[in-house]
Amino acid sequence: MDRTVAIIGGTGSQGFGLALRWLKAGEHVIIGSRFREKAQAKADEARKILGRGIKVEGSSNDEAAGKADIIVLTVPFEVQLSIVKRIRPYLSDGKILVDVTVPLASSIGGDPWKILYPWDGSAAEQAARYVPRGVRVVSAFHTISSDILSDIDSEVDCDVLICGDDDEAKRIVAELAEEIPGVRAVDCGPLENSRLTESLAPLMIYLCKSYGVKTVGIRITGIPTIRWG
Ligand SMILES: NC(=O)c1ccc[n+]([C@@H]2O[C@H](COP(=O)([O-])OP(=O)(O)OC[C@H]3O[C@@H](n4cnc5c(N)ncnc54)[C@H](OP(=O)(O)O)[C@@H]3O)[C@@H](O)[C@H]2O)c1
Repeated sequence: MDRTVAIIGGTGSQGFGLALRWLKAGEHVIIGSRFREKAQAKADEARKILGRGIKVEGSSNDEAAGKADIIVLTVPFEVQLSIVKRIRPYLSDGKILVDVTVPLASSIGGDPWKILYPWDGSAAEQAARYVPRGVRVVSAFHTISSDILSDIDSEVDCDVLICGDDDEAKRIVAELAEEIPGVRAVDCGPLENSRLTESLAPLMIYLCKSYGVKTVGIRITGIPTIRWG
């Protein structure tokens, strides 16, 4: 595996959960943060959890985006656009931006089990509007919770729903998703369909709240094994 995955906002619960899973699978992961020391402390935490042999670094979001082939965006919706604009100079032709952002109503003081409707249709389409031409935006990992990801010895009973307009980029993200034990990646079509997949996340939050659990996952049934790319 000769690639580098940067996680922008990787100090947060979703980003760090993904980092742990990919580090465990042998990926080289850069945890990004606005604050280098915070990112380095998280990298140390990952070493404590998984052992010293893992390929982890902690750095500023800018540096992480510059060094990586795949940049995973795990920040709250209310700051997504400002972070995309901030890392934009480091996003070059051919790189993949994986958007995990959910436009939760809590971003503007509402309930986290309700969705906002961004002007562009979805958070991922909003990100796509601001990246340089040639950067491939894929949306994924909205329906897998940080609680499940951070329980690193458990299998994940959940599909990862992937949307994007570039088949090769979707195949690469699917490969990353399926490095998480138990996960199946499902091609959910063009980036525009992220309007649908993002909206499942507040539903999952609602179900967690109403059933008093942290383990809600989504499975799509009745489809054949997916061929990617
Ligand atoms: N948590 C989940 O289970 C889950 C599941 C599916 C999707 N998501 C989505 O994934 C994204 C991240 O979720 P999360 O729970 O990991 O969020 P989080 O812990 O609240 O924040 C993630 C990181 O974003 C950065 N950040 C926070 N506030 C910021 C601000 N005002 N300006 C700039 N950066 C800021 C912080 O990194 P630094 O301070 O280090 O810069 C923080 O560690 C959200 O869009 C969420 O809807 C989450």
